[in-house]
Amino acid sequence: MLLYVRIRFNNQHYMKHFWFIACLQVLAACALAQVSIIPQPVGLKMPGSAGNFSITSKTSIYLEDARLAPSAAFLNDYLKQIYGFTLPVKKKAGTAPGIRLRHQTTASPREGAYTLQVDNQGIAITSETEQGAFYGIQTLIQLLPAAKNTTLSIPFVSVTDYPRFQYRGMHLDVGRHFFPVEFVKKYIDYIALHKMNYFHWHLTEDQGWRIEIKKYPRLTQVGAWRDGTIIGPYPGTGNDNIRYGGFYTQKEVKEIVQYAAQRYITVVPEIEMPGHSSAALTAYPHLGCTGGPYKVQPTWGVFKEVFCAGNDSVFTFLQDVLDEVLPLFPSKYVHIGGDECPKESWKVCPKCQARKTANNLKDEHELQSYFVQRMEKYINSKGKIMIGWDEILEGGLAPNAVVMSWRGEKGGIDAANQGHDVIMTPVSHVYLDYAQAKPEDSLVIGGYTPLKKTYSYEPVPAELDASKNKHVLGAQGNVWTEYMGYPSKVEYMIFPRMSALSEVLWSPREVRNWEDFEKRLEMQVLRYGLWGANYNKKFE
Ligand code: ACM
Ligand code: ZN
Repeated sequence: MLLYVRIRFNNQHYMKHFWFIACLQVLAACALAQVSIIPQPVGLKMPGSAGNFSITSKTSIYLEDARLAPSAAFLNDYLKQIYGFTLPVKKKAGTAPGIRLRHQTTASPREGAYTLQVDNQGIAITSETEQGAFYGIQTLIQLLPAAKNTTLSIPFVSVTDYPRFQYRGMHLDVGRHFFPVEFVKKYIDYIALHKMNYFHWHLTEDQGWRIEIKKYPRLTQVGAWRDGTIIGPYPGTGNDNIRYGGFYTQKEVKEIVQYAAQRYITVVPEIEMPGHSSAALTAYPHLGCTGGPYKVQPTWGVFKEVFCAGNDSVFTFLQDVLDEVLPLFPSKYVHIGGDECPKESWKVCPKCQARKTANNLKDEHELQSYFVQRMEKYINSKGKIMIGWDEILEGGLAPNAVVMSWRGEKGGIDAANQGHDVIMTPVSHVYLDYAQAKPEDSLVIGGYTPLKKTYSYEPVPAELDASKNKHVLGAQGNVWTEYMGYPSKVEYMIFPRMSALSEVLWSPREVRNWEDFEKRLEMQVLRYGLWGANYNKKFE
């Protein structure tokens, strides 16, 4: 374009012609650039008569149903943060051009569905559920120019949209590294901006226990702090000897859960058991097979110190912990981990062996299954559904468990074939701690999951019998933070792969198109810029 300008500039003969062509090109570029939505909607039409509606600080939001107020509030927060102004909200249906949020009553509302219409009357978002209006607002946000200090001119467009999967999740490990409340909220905003609806909050780890439990204060007085962290890639070149830690008070947890709820995001807490429990054991050593001493781990990996499966005090402790955790989270799901639990200490522990004998358990896998099933009974008695990583299949699946399939698709397939709901999180495609580039462009845990691979993911396994497809609730990006010590590194690892995953989870399979996604990503990276988010610029 610049070259074109220079060549033509001194040629008077072509000047009129040039400006005409240039204007057309700019208009076309704007129209194309402005309708660049991720995840791609189900249906999107540009009417024959091109036109624009401009939002100014005088444009009203007509809240035709008071229940849609959180959507209006999100839009105003976004406008304020990015463009520096907010819009008046009128709790009625007005006649002047403006932004209309409408609730449509139907016998069987489709969760998350909405329509969005932009014409000379302004913008109308119509939905059958509150979430639908919120997702309509996310689309509207993506119709705004991805630049500050510009007219908020929106092309006439008509969108019909609804999600493909009911579980569209992102996970964050706050155990390996701790992230402040402000960043957790930002992360929740990123989830919202991608029309995703679950935040899996991995709250306990070998390297730190991160949630206040009033009955067991040592969990955070002791378990939230480690004596330093290894330097560099595992096993490290030494320990930095910097005391490291942090935790969320129950008040902060409530604040975060409420923040998420206003964005139609459910927070699923994960309290790890029986493995990944070094921090808890350090605080309360009698809960381990040997009685300790234990330490909050300064290094990464899998540790053989785990909760004793033969000691009833462990179950009392974990039930007490859940008694404080469950009321903080309205989620119907609670995650109990269940992954990577070495069985060495159980094999030589008299209490664990006695439990095995008393319950006719064949091996330590069945002992783990006993452990998990006992916890599931408790969780179900509180009206909640238990989620576990796919290791909970070993030794027999708990009767009502939802399985998170991470070591590939097999766990998900087996569980779905047994009639269980599953959430797909295979390391191969959606572990966002894996390298995005080759050679690796930052310190990462390993692996290689370029953007295109995440985009190519299909959550419903090809080999699953179609009658079981309904058990695949959706999928989730997992963000393990051994090598993400600060928020901008998390952003660097999730973007743009999270945008790809959002399309996998939201858009109909048949509208997914890599080349088209790549084009739309050009605008998306400008949005990352508006949000002040770091991202990987050399995605491939
Ligand atoms: C896992 O990545 N250990 C669930
Ligand atoms: Zn034991």
